[in-house]
Amino acid sequence: MRDVDSNTITAAVVRSFDGAADPRLREIIASLVRHLHGFARETRLTPEEWQAGLDFLHRAARISNESRSEFVLTSDILGLSSLVDLIASGKGGTERSALGPFHAEGSPLLEVGGDLKRDNAGEPMLVSGRVLDTAGRPVPRAQLDFWQAAVNGKYWQQDPEQNPDNLRFRMLTRDDGAYSFTTVRPAPYTVPYDGPVGELLRAAGRHAWRPAHFHFIVSAEGHHALTTEVFFADDPYIDGDAVFGVRESLLVQPQQNHDGELARRHGLPLPFEQVIFDFRLAPAPG
Ligand code: BEZ
Ligand code: FE
Repeated sequence: MRDVDSNTITAAVVRSFDGAADPRLREIIASLVRHLHGFARETRLTPEEWQAGLDFLHRAARISNESRSEFVLTSDILGLSSLVDLIASGKGGTERSALGPFHAEGSPLLEVGGDLKRDNAGEPMLVSGRVLDTAGRPVPRAQLDFWQAAVNGKYWQQDPEQNPDNLRFRMLTRDDGAYSFTTVRPAPYTVPYDGPVGELLRAAGRHAWRPAHFHFIVSAEGHHALTTEVFFADDPYIDGDAVFGVRESLLVQPQQNHDGELARRHGLPLPFEQVIFDFRLAPAPG
């Protein structure tokens, strides 16, 4: 292998992974090598430029910790996380979207119809819908794992004023697949931009905003778990999500509801804002 040149090096590196027992690993590494080499050839990458790239990775490592991964954020702002979701969405069911860094295990259980808004500031709303399979049949006892930012654009992990259980829950759907809860409308917020990702965004004249959204992980036996988000169609950043998570099928437009009985039952003003969104779960193989 002492005679590799710029034409033969790619095949030599790909061959060096031939011994990997897992065929999928072999396929992924071979493709990654071909694309990385293709990228260097296409851009005629200089040693100084590649050093700057490695420096970016070093700085990303230094700023990352338990609750912040600059590597995930890099994948997000390059649209790679979203592309992987879009590829997986091709299997049917509701489209997938960003998990983000603020999901926490063990959210408190909330009964269907429960109150999540509690004493949070912001515009109260009723959120409801059903969990269905791809044939349109209700999925009873599906679990919704939900989290959102407060009206100040912060998740509980970012805000010492918030209780750690604030604005998150797990809920099991009823026999007819129904779920509902009251909450407050979240606000747009920025992804962290005080590290190398922020520098890259600034160098490109890009902003760090995400449109306001709800996060859901919906899971049920016999179905693929679904990680997704629900967005507000009238959000000022709906066409400029810094992490490319918005899909047309995940947009809702809150509607005014004048049902006095429903308002009284949920402690909502009259009229109140309502968002209705149904989830569709794709069947798991086997
Ligand atoms: C979020 O939606 O929580 C998020 C997603 C990607 C990067 C940062 C935050
Ligand atoms: Fe989020």
